[in-house]
This record gives sequence, C-alpha cells and structure tokens, in this order.
Amino acid sequence: MNIRLFQTEELVARALADRVASAVRQRPSIVLGLPTGRTPIATYAELRRLRVEQGLSFARASTFNLDEFVGIEPTHPGSFRYFMERHLFEGIDLPPERIHFLDGMAPDLDAECERYERNIANAGGIDLQLLGIGANGHIGFNEPGEELMANTHHAALHDGTRRDNAAQFGGDPTQVPQEALSMGMGTILKAAALILVATGERKARCVERMVRGPVTTRLPASFLQMHRAVEVFLDRPAASLLSV
Ligand code: F6R
Repeated sequence: MNIRLFQTEELVARALADRVASAVRQRPSIVLGLPTGRTPIATYAELRRLRVEQGLSFARASTFNLDEFVGIEPTHPGSFRYFMERHLFEGIDLPPERIHFLDGMAPDLDAECERYERNIANAGGIDLQLLGIGANGHIGFNEPGEELMANTHHAALHDGTRRDNAAQFGGDPTQVPQEALSMGMGTILKAAALILVATGERKARCVERMVRGPVTTRLPASFLQMHRAVEVFLDRPAASLLSV
C-alpha cells in the first residue's frame, strides 16, 4: 500500500482533491467510485472549489456510489443520494445521466444489485474508487463477520454503523434503516485503482490492522492488501499507530 501522510485533515482533503482532479484531467471520461460519510466532505468541497476556480470539468465523467440505504427515498435527508447532491453533485458539471446510484426503494433488491453490477461492467469498470473506512474496518457496507460478499448485495447493518449514521435521522439510531445495498468486496477490488482516506484518531486502530494485520473477513478493509494499486491518504492522528 502506498501510504501518503499529511499533518492535518485539511491537507488530506486538498491533496486528495488534487489527486482526483489530475486523474479527471488525464482521463476526462473517467469512471469514479465514490463514498459518502463525514471523511470525504472536505474533499468534495475542494473539488467544488476546483470546479469554480480552475474550471475542473466532470462533463464526460461517470460516477458509481458505493452504497445506499434500503427503504428511504433519494430525497430523504438521510439518503446517500441526498448527501452526494448536497456535498458534490450540485457544485460540479457531472451530467445527471452519468450519476449511478443503487436504488434502495427498488421492488426487487436482488435484481437491483445485479443491475448495478451490469451497469459498472457496461461502463468499462471503475477506474478510480475512493473509499472511507468504518471504525470497525468496514468498507462500503461490507461489515466485519464470518464471511464477505463478493458482489453488490443486500446487507444488514451493525448497530454501531447505525449509531454512526444517526445524525441525519434526528439523532435516533433506531430511525436509521436496518439494511442497505452495497458494492461487494469483489466489486471494489475490481476497480483499476483504489484510494482509501481516513482521518482522526478514531480510525487509527483499524488503519493499523488494515495495513499490517492479516487479511480477514473480521476486518473487510484488510482485503485491500490484495490489490496492486492502493493509495492510503491519512492525517497524523489516523496514522498514529503506524511507524511511518
Ligand atoms: C459510505 C461508506 C462507509 C464510510 C465509513 C466511514 O458510503 O462507504 O464505509 O466510508 O462508514 O464513514 P465516516 O467517513 O463518516 O467515518
């Protein structure tokens, strides 16, 4: 893993946005995989700034988001689609028809997961997949457990993950959906290049296990060790248990 260390969270966001911007400039028809969560908010703000100040264009790019809750509309403030509109899509020139999202309201969720896999394949696969990491080592909604799913699937969320997502549901974890759709670990590992971003001391332990520990379904992020093009963007607190 190619680890890139920065003093602060702000510097991580700036460097990551620059990294994404140069990939988009190099390949305007790039297919990006995108996460939600608290961590990428500053990076998305930087990308919006690069759009305004430097004319960075996403006009020929496509995006696939990693995951979405089951049972809420895309207009619900807790949905990941709503998050992406607010933090990124509204501020860049990405054509709506090239924004791809899992539909958590689909009547047949298995068929919806198959559709997503097909759409990714039809787009030629993901060129650059951005990832966050849960404090329990989850990636997308691939939660730690006895086994991992390779393909896009229907996942039950852990209580801790529901607590972490409660803010957009009136602060009440019981209001957070119990299920989500998520790209599988295999879907993620098929991307040509991966960039994982983690900030804050809360992520230090799972970052250390991801980088140094055994590959185990108990820490889904450890599977990234098997990919040949992974960059990890960290601030000092997230890297505090690594000797880098
Ligand atoms: C969400 C996703 C999740 C988050 C993870 C970290 O699309 O993929 O795996 O990346 O839960 O979330 P934050 O950034 O809020 O700590």
